[in-house]
Amino acid sequence: MVVNTLADTYLRNKRVVIRADLNVPLDGTTITNDLRIRASLPTIEFALNKGARVLVVSHLGRPEPGATNRDLSLQPVADRLRDLLKRPVDLIQTRDHDVDINPGEIKLLENIRFEAGETKNDPDLARSLASRCDVYINDAFGTAHRAHASTHGIADYAKESCAGLLLASEIEALERAVANPTRPLVAVLGGAKVSGKLEVLHNLKDIADTLLVGGGMANTFLLASGHDVGDSLVENDLVDNAQAIREATDLPLPVDVMTAESISEQSHAFLRLIESVPSVESIVDIGPETARRYSKIIANAGTVIWNGPMGIFEYPQFAEGTRGIADAIAETSAFTLAGGGDTVAAIEQFDITDRIDYISTGGGAFLEFIEGKSLPGIEVLKQKPVTPQKRLICPLKQLRPSNFSREH
Ligand code: 3PG
Repeated sequence: MVVNTLADTYLRNKRVVIRADLNVPLDGTTITNDLRIRASLPTIEFALNKGARVLVVSHLGRPEPGATNRDLSLQPVADRLRDLLKRPVDLIQTRDHDVDINPGEIKLLENIRFEAGETKNDPDLARSLASRCDVYINDAFGTAHRAHASTHGIADYAKESCAGLLLASEIEALERAVANPTRPLVAVLGGAKVSGKLEVLHNLKDIADTLLVGGGMANTFLLASGHDVGDSLVENDLVDNAQAIREATDLPLPVDVMTAESISEQSHAFLRLIESVPSVESIVDIGPETARRYSKIIANAGTVIWNGPMGIFEYPQFAEGTRGIADAIAETSAFTLAGGGDTVAAIEQFDITDRIDYISTGGGAFLEFIEGKSLPGIEVLKQKPVTPQKRLICPLKQLRPSNFSREH
């Protein structure tokens, strides 16, 4: 994919708007995971070091458009950015157009979703945001699947637009895995339900050489191939769909599973062959023989895409399947790409962050990319003219969020 990148853009003294995805989890006003803020730092620092006048724009959560309630203010994010950048980061209001930003200075705009026009991609808001910059830099991969005023409309009015370092590295990693994979391409998919990942499964059945399924979604595949899954959650309406996906690709099923009579921290896990799951037990993890077989396939892969855990890994007695797969993904020589909230949590829990080639900061955007959809925030950048020599130049290893030290 060819888009303008930051490295191609002259920034000295320029007014830049950086659209970042600083939508971080909060407990009250405390940020519980600042990965997205740290992943946005390279682009912000690059622009500041070039002497740009930096205005950062982001959303936080899903406030009612036009809400006067300021529960989802970006003030905690401004404070965290100030600590990480070690320089002042004032929070300013979207309607406040009279604020001067000096070269090498940064300000953060208040939650852009407080504006009624943001999620409607309102041209007036897009034009007003564009009027605040000479260069629009989109670095918000996590929001690239939204055609909103600050992720899409603004690019139509900005004099110059380009991808930030994070967005460029996400595009490069995802294209390497999805569009141009070294084969065999193995997709490891888990999570609770087939329904939540139906489009992902349908796209991957066509592009992956092997699909490895685990988590609750595997139950529907097991049922489709005639197995009794006991008291496990299944989606009866998707059995035909699961069968069609199985017929279209190589999709080996679990041969053993861990089961439990109830799901809690105290409940006991039983190892069962897939032919003998009792009617009163639910499947909570893949079994050790399945993990061994899946690991062998992962070891021989050229590319691995991982989204979703193999079981309820939050409880130690149901975590071994996910741990085994995580270890196999960490050890394979294949190019490895992981994404999704639960997957990133599992990667952190099993301490393999530095052993995955690329960990995406996207949730919905990551899934839509692997569904084969085009993302509006990226598409709009592609429509901007670029000279032939311009290309993505970001070294993946350098830009991985996992490489940003906690204390920065
Ligand atoms: C995310 O967390 O996936 C992104 O920030 C997008 O948020 P949204 O789903 O509220 O648009």
